[in-house]
Amino acid sequence: MSKVLVVGSINMDLVVQVEQFPRLGETLLGQHFATHHGGKGANQAVAAARLGAQVTMIGRVGDDAFGRELKDSLSTEGINTEWIKTSPNTASGIAMITLAGSDNAIIVVPGANAHLSPADIEAAEAAFIEADVVIAQLETPLASIEMAALLAQRYCKPFILNPAPAMRLPASLLDKVALLTPNEFELGMALGRPESEWQQALQQMPGKVLMTAGGDGAWFTDAAGQLQQQTSFKVTPVDTTGAGDTFNGALTAFWDLGLPAASRMACAAGALSVTKAGAQGGMPTRAELLAFLADVASTGQG
Ligand code: RIB
Ligand code: NA
Repeated sequence: MSKVLVVGSINMDLVVQVEQFPRLGETLLGQHFATHHGGKGANQAVAAARLGAQVTMIGRVGDDAFGRELKDSLSTEGINTEWIKTSPNTASGIAMITLAGSDNAIIVVPGANAHLSPADIEAAEAAFIEADVVIAQLETPLASIEMAALLAQRYCKPFILNPAPAMRLPASLLDKVALLTPNEFELGMALGRPESEWQQALQQMPGKVLMTAGGDGAWFTDAAGQLQQQTSFKVTPVDTTGAGDTFNGALTAFWDLGLPAASRMACAAGALSVTKAGAQGGMPTRAELLAFLADVASTGQG
């Protein structure tokens, strides 16, 4: 198991379930409301910690009830929260998630996540020295992510970037990435090339891109540039929010196994995560993941 450092966002997810999305100006009654702990960074940290990895997170919450609850929950998961700072007079990050059947619509308001600064990252230099692997996403300011990439490089730690939400990435950041983990849309956006050219993109950066593909699992290349696929595992989905985060957290936790084995673990963890409500609901423990894989092996799937 790798020692994981996560640099990223922490949100409270406010989730409503409706039969259909409201039209502009319309008020309609929803079916269900729940709050779930979320944020791509926190989700990835929890996914890795549940699997038994030693996890430290760098991030920011606001000085509100959500912030206190979110930080406490990360400690309860066994995550080192010493580098999670509280921004005064600031709201914690939230995501308003509307679920209608299998569709969703999400608005993220970064709040305190937007205050994560390069100085915050530098202050946590000791965490980079201790880590085996560093992972970040794109829900905190780009300057903070660039500093994380720089420190990872300084201490020769592999830097994994999950480029979500989608945006074009500067070459200076791409150069420092050991592995980029986009979905197909995010890959096109990150590199500024058509989505349809994903195979060429993977082959041009051998060993440096792993593309998640939902029900098709994940694609990556070996050092020779040969395309490899890790197929997905069949489950009955309840809520797919955070499946990508579970994948990334698991991939990082199992980084020491190498990409083929780690991506298999990650696909299985991602599959299990969608069987329960909420981004962090359903994220498996190590024992649950191994039991699932043993079950799958006995039925010949995956
Ligand atoms: O990737 C899922 C996450 O994205 C949610 O938990 C939500 O907080 C948004 O940041
Ligand atoms: Na879930």
